[in-house]
Amino acid sequence: MSEKSFTLTNNETGGSIDLPMREGTDGPITVDISSLFQTTGLLTFDPGFMSTASCESAITYIDGEKGILRYRGYPVEQLAERSDFLEVAYLLLYGDLPSAQALLDFRALIGHHTMINESLTQFFDGFHYDAHPMSIMVGVVGSLSAFYHDSLDIHNPRHREICAHRLIAKMPTIAAACYKHNVGEPLIYPRNDLSYVGNYLRMMFATPCDDYEPNPVAEKALNLLFLLHADHEQNASTSTVRLAGSSGANPFACIAAGITSLWGPAHGGANEAVISMLDEIGHTDNIDKYIVKAKDKSDPFRLMGFGHRVYKNYDPRAKIIRSVCHEVLEKLADPDNPKFELALRLEEIALKDPYFVERKLYPNVDFYSGIIYQALGIPSSMFTVMFAIARTAGWIAHWMEMISDPGQRIGRPRQLYTGATQRDYVPIAER
Ligand code: SDX
Repeated sequence: MSEKSFTLTNNETGGSIDLPMREGTDGPITVDISSLFQTTGLLTFDPGFMSTASCESAITYIDGEKGILRYRGYPVEQLAERSDFLEVAYLLLYGDLPSAQALLDFRALIGHHTMINESLTQFFDGFHYDAHPMSIMVGVVGSLSAFYHDSLDIHNPRHREICAHRLIAKMPTIAAACYKHNVGEPLIYPRNDLSYVGNYLRMMFATPCDDYEPNPVAEKALNLLFLLHADHEQNASTSTVRLAGSSGANPFACIAAGITSLWGPAHGGANEAVISMLDEIGHTDNIDKYIVKAKDKSDPFRLMGFGHRVYKNYDPRAKIIRSVCHEVLEKLADPDNPKFELALRLEEIALKDPYFVERKLYPNVDFYSGIIYQALGIPSSMFTVMFAIARTAGWIAHWMEMISDPGQRIGRPRQLYTGATQRDYVPIAER
């Protein structure tokens, strides 16, 4: 059967070119334009990559129209119901669900790597006490290669695997240490008899004077939030990790680059921005005023937690999180939590407003996650740090997939140049 192709015709010259089409196992068909510049001298123009598949991947599949999210083919709804974060991290890394023994071994292995080098714990003291925890996390994760350089040969599969295990294991320890620095309390060492999430909660809230017993409702909710945030195809931060990794940079530096990209309020920083927005709105009486602001192009205000580049339907993760929100607030926080009621009312109004309906702006994963984190007693400055803990599993899975691809090459996009054409230097006396 002849290979499917897409003919591009230049109406000016009448010339045309047949470009091969490539079909995946699911999702949109692609037109392979990799030979376009070489054969025609033409570039495609796609700022924001609205219509660009940057790579081939077998990790996560999203269908924005149908609101589908699958990790290695498993619907996120089933994983949310029956799996937990570490099992999903294994699935993302290795491509299949683990056997009972493999999962036990993986949990033990991750537990073995939860501590950070003792010298690294000094780094936190170098930051101002009120440094944003994301600024601390970027710095500390980027410095991990200064300590774990015994396994940095990115072309050695075993080294790649050790780096993946170290990153997944150490992110909660580093995250909790960022928080402890902010609150002026001593770091709490991990305890490997606890679950991944229970360990994190204890490192956050225990002190040398009072230990902390993770609340089962909090542990279940956090496991779910980590699982739902674990991966999401080629989002901005994952694409950042891939681009950084394409030059051969070490995985710790690449994950630090991913953390940097995630920090933006248009991306992972949105969960913190949702809470600030709800604080700013303050009361349901003010919602209409803020809906007007959100529509006003001259006003920078956006309805944080709404809209998505891919989901033009409800974000499946927001649906799952919304139901957990009720349970967490009922059991762990003031059920009349003004923020949750305000969020629900805002959602109800926005989903009926033609501006949002026409643009298919639905609540995304960040709309509810911040409210749950707050109910768990986690400060809003830590919300994106929590996102980074979870997304490290996806980031490192994509980095491993890219580096182990024999066809992998450095990512180097071109541009549409609109600057000055050639001109001669003007001596300063003549300017
Ligand atoms: C995450 O990519 C991922 O997968 C990300 C993520 C992941 O798991 O990795 O899912 C996590 O980042 C979720 C998104 C969190 N961000 C927010 O909640 C911030 C608020 N949302 C917007 O900034 C925006 O919706 C984006 C950034 C999420 C998507 O931006 P797009 O796809 O570039 O959409 P756009 O800016 O082109 O908007 C299309 C229209 C515009 O209006 P018109 O020019 O057509 O008149 O919708 C408007 C926008 O002005 N619009 C909004 C809006 N989002 C888009 N108007 C008001 N409030 C909003 N939130």
